[in-house]
Amino acid sequence: MKKTIKYNLSGIIPDELLQLVPSSFDILGAKGDAVAIIEIPDELEEYETQIGEAICKVHHNVKSVLGKKSERHGEFRLRDMKLLVGDEDTEIIHKESGCRFKLDPRVTYFSVRESTERERIISQITGPEDVLVLFGGIGPFPICISKKRPDVTALSIELNPDAHRYCLENIRLNKLEGRVSAILGDVREVAPSLGKQFDRVLTPLPKGAYLFLDVIVPTVKPGGILHHYHWASDLDSYSEAYTLVDEAAAKYGRKTEFLGGVRVAKYSPRVSKVRIDVRIY
Ligand SMILES: C[S@@+](CC[C@H](N)C(=O)[O-])C[C@H]1O[C@@H](n2cnc3c(N)ncnc32)[C@H](O)[C@@H]1O
Repeated sequence: MKKTIKYNLSGIIPDELLQLVPSSFDILGAKGDAVAIIEIPDELEEYETQIGEAICKVHHNVKSVLGKKSERHGEFRLRDMKLLVGDEDTEIIHKESGCRFKLDPRVTYFSVRESTERERIISQITGPEDVLVLFGGIGPFPICISKKRPDVTALSIELNPDAHRYCLENIRLNKLEGRVSAILGDVREVAPSLGKQFDRVLTPLPKGAYLFLDVIVPTVKPGGILHHYHWASDLDSYSEAYTLVDEAAAKYGRKTEFLGGVRVAKYSPRVSKVRIDVRIY
């Protein structure tokens, strides 16, 4: 029988604290080459090495365990993380939807929890399209979309040089050269210089993508779709984001149509990361 993490910690952590050991955490990577990322409550800080060791005992594929030490911060949306146990080299290859992604979670944003959201976007694409992914990170959206839809070409724009480097490598790993391309730079500067418009544009930066709407709107073809991400109150998830898009479009004399919205993930008890889909005429 496979022993649980708590089982491995009994006798090491006092019984009254054992219940605080998190039962869920993220694992990125594959066989023998995975990294676990866990948020350990303050009360258990003195036991974090033992918790890391227990995770490795139960999950034999985990080579390193990282403890979350902060919220995501800064332009690159990274968090401080501490190596609790294992290999100092935390670069891994993660598999999702038949794609492979090389990355180091200590220097780039990547969320395994957003695979469902990527599937939802893919399911909306039915024909040949040019897709622009702003704030593209290591490339999960453009690569997953293009792998599933052979008639799609995609372009990713990303500011973090490490994420961009991994994106280029992931395009090669997934044999998508020629169909997926990536530009290193600030969306504010790169978007106006593209000189073309796209059938579908994604803005997966919930913290502040709305501040770029003035340069984002012109990248959408007339009749194209903007998938716009935002942080919103659970009391009214979509109105603010839609008003911001509509006002930005109006400045270019363009009309919009709200197609729908989805709550992608909880951010705090009353705030979620949401996506709205808007057609821009
Ligand atoms: C929330 S992450 C999403 C990354 C990726 N789309 C994904 O789903 O994994 C947002 C990304 O936007 C990048 N970013 C932030 N400001 C940017 C800017 N002004 N121009 C380009 N990229 C930016 C960050 O470095 C980060 O990788």
